[in-house]
Amino acid sequence: MRLEDCLPHLLYEFSSESDLTRAIQEVSQNFTTNRGDLTRYLKDQRLVSAYTAFYLTTNFPKLREVARWLPRDWVEGLKSCDFVDLGAGPGTFSLAWRDLGGEGAVHQIETSELMQAQALKLWRGLGNQGLSQAKFARKLPGSFLLFGHSANEMGAPGAIRYIEEVSPDHVLFIEPGTKAFFPEMLKIRDHLLAAGFKVLFPCPEPLACPMRESGEDWCHQFITVRQEDDVERLSQLARKDRRHLPLIVHAYSKTFATKNPEERIVRVLPETKFSFEWEVCRNNILEHYQVMKRNLSKDRIKELGALTAGTPIETRLEKVVEKTKRVELLRIL
Ligand SMILES: C[S@@+](CC[C@H](N)C(=O)[O-])C[C@H]1O[C@@H](n2cnc3c(N)ncnc32)[C@H](O)[C@@H]1O
Repeated sequence: MRLEDCLPHLLYEFSSESDLTRAIQEVSQNFTTNRGDLTRYLKDQRLVSAYTAFYLTTNFPKLREVARWLPRDWVEGLKSCDFVDLGAGPGTFSLAWRDLGGEGAVHQIETSELMQAQALKLWRGLGNQGLSQAKFARKLPGSFLLFGHSANEMGAPGAIRYIEEVSPDHVLFIEPGTKAFFPEMLKIRDHLLAAGFKVLFPCPEPLACPMRESGEDWCHQFITVRQEDDVERLSQLARKDRRHLPLIVHAYSKTFATKNPEERIVRVLPETKFSFEWEVCRNNILEHYQVMKRNLSKDRIKELGALTAGTPIETRLEKVVEKTKRVELLRIL
């Protein structure tokens, strides 16, 4: 999705590139420094349009990258389900889901009227049909429910209420990778596990999260995405890095069963001249892994240097040095 594809379908017409850049910076400030009035951007047509231009284009590759981490058969099965985009905003993920091959009906739940109007204009403008929009949830058993950067705005109680109201079989969260949201995500996780959902990502097992008690760390992932050239230019003008994205992804299903990877990188620690150092969640226990660089080809060193938190791996233990497990990396899953 290029910027030029979405600009004609915005509610507000920006007079220039710098006009759009300024508005993107205002939206961004609303999310970071001015979080006290988090809903301000939702009431301003100009800011809603700026949000749309920036996050529509960057959420397309984001969803594609996130989907690569999820079980392939699960994602394929979801494509025929009813898709519920909760806190849809301008429908960035509804469109990204269609682009990924989602064929089921699309239901957007969104409380901001301006966002709803923007979503409809965009949906039709880009040639799509079959959209239902509402301010309230209704039961859609068997559906696939997505929270895209919205559960953090409504908090765990709000998100849980929606899950109960919609009664989906599958739930995916793509949320900001912030420390503040992590405890909320864990409350939602507790609820879903108690309600009979299986966790598909990121946890190896449906056991207690080893980062739950830690005051310092929180479980989040990083993806590296390639943006379209005009989007990349806009990111640079707005001084917003949209290539290296921290995020909290969680995936759950009531009906899809699979064996989760046993080992996942949860933190990339500073590498040394001789080794890669990772914190790994192995069957819900945190371990310090070390992979030695000697005997690795240049290409392999480059590949391992680019791995990010969230990557599932398979290793073989070589030896334990104090609290560090020196391992051979067998596979990146
Ligand atoms: C940051 S935007 C995300 C929009 C879109 N999902 C995306 O990722 O680009 C968050 C959206 O959640 C919506 N939202 C917040 N609380 C909500 C609630 N309780 N019910 C429905 N929508 C809500 C806001 O109106 C806003 O449009």
